[in-house]
Amino acid sequence: MNVIEAINSGALTTQFPHNTFAIRHAYAGNPLFTLPRIIELLRSLPRDRIEFNSGKAAISQDPNSTPMVDLPPEEIVRRIDTSGAWMVLKRVETDPAYRAIIEEVLLTLAQSRGCKSIEEADFRDIQGFIFVSSPKSTTPFHADSDENIFVQVHGEKFFHVYDNRDGSIASDDVLEDVVVKHRNMPYQPQYDAKAVHYTLQPGDGIFVPYQWPHYVQTSDSYSISLSITWKSRDVRRRNDITVVNSMMRKMGLPQRAPGANPALDTIKWTGLRCVMAVVEPLRRSEFVRRAVRRIAFGKHANYYYRADKQKAA
Ligand SMILES: [Fe+2]
Repeated sequence: MNVIEAINSGALTTQFPHNTFAIRHAYAGNPLFTLPRIIELLRSLPRDRIEFNSGKAAISQDPNSTPMVDLPPEEIVRRIDTSGAWMVLKRVETDPAYRAIIEEVLLTLAQSRGCKSIEEADFRDIQGFIFVSSPKSTTPFHADSDENIFVQVHGEKFFHVYDNRDGSIASDDVLEDVVVKHRNMPYQPQYDAKAVHYTLQPGDGIFVPYQWPHYVQTSDSYSISLSITWKSRDVRRRNDITVVNSMMRKMGLPQRAPGANPALDTIKWTGLRCVMAVVEPLRRSEFVRRAVRRIAFGKHANYYYRADKQKAA
């Protein structure tokens, strides 16, 4: 077996990247996804790459009132069976061992699509996220502005994905908020008519297309999962134009959604890329990352630190 394979053979070529589909993978039982190894990883990450809160979030969760959990991050993982928490470790591709797995998956995906390399497949800005969740936890309804191979490694997870290709669940305005404010979105039960429901066991996984809304729940045991994300050139461009639109709107200048005016989109994109070429090297510093998020996205952008503030209060 390849490290990942689509359950319906051909999905990697016929469904990708416009539809969700189920996969199998070879990483269940891999020692990189055990609690002691994840604690080791946790110690090596800067604070803004560790986000956690209570697992008792609502499906339709206002991010400003997300319930928190009053434990240090290491303790949350050590006691994940009972800590009632949800945690994500971000940018785990910065660790060479996890980077190797992520590249192995993406090279398999690229080759299955007839490409010789990850670069040829246009998988850029590659990132990895490890989710560690207590039993009966909820990841609220949200959308991510990247493409995602989601890999279930430990425990059972219920993953509900929603087809928003006609914009009936999330409008352009809602999706702009998802890029520049917070990923969470309001959920309505009538959306379920457009849902695909997966029950994932260790060894299972799915592909989640760009900005398809979803929410996730764990079952009776704790869960460990890996998300492998990337952005094609088109996705990066769309996200960048969305950021410029948001900043200009804050200055009182109405903007049209990405794609509505391609010539103006190109000017916006080129401008932002020039600014980012200067800022990007500085973002290796956590202090600078925090300041840039504050300037670009406003005072709520650094919500990762909320758990620390609550503890200090
Ligand atoms: Fe997600």
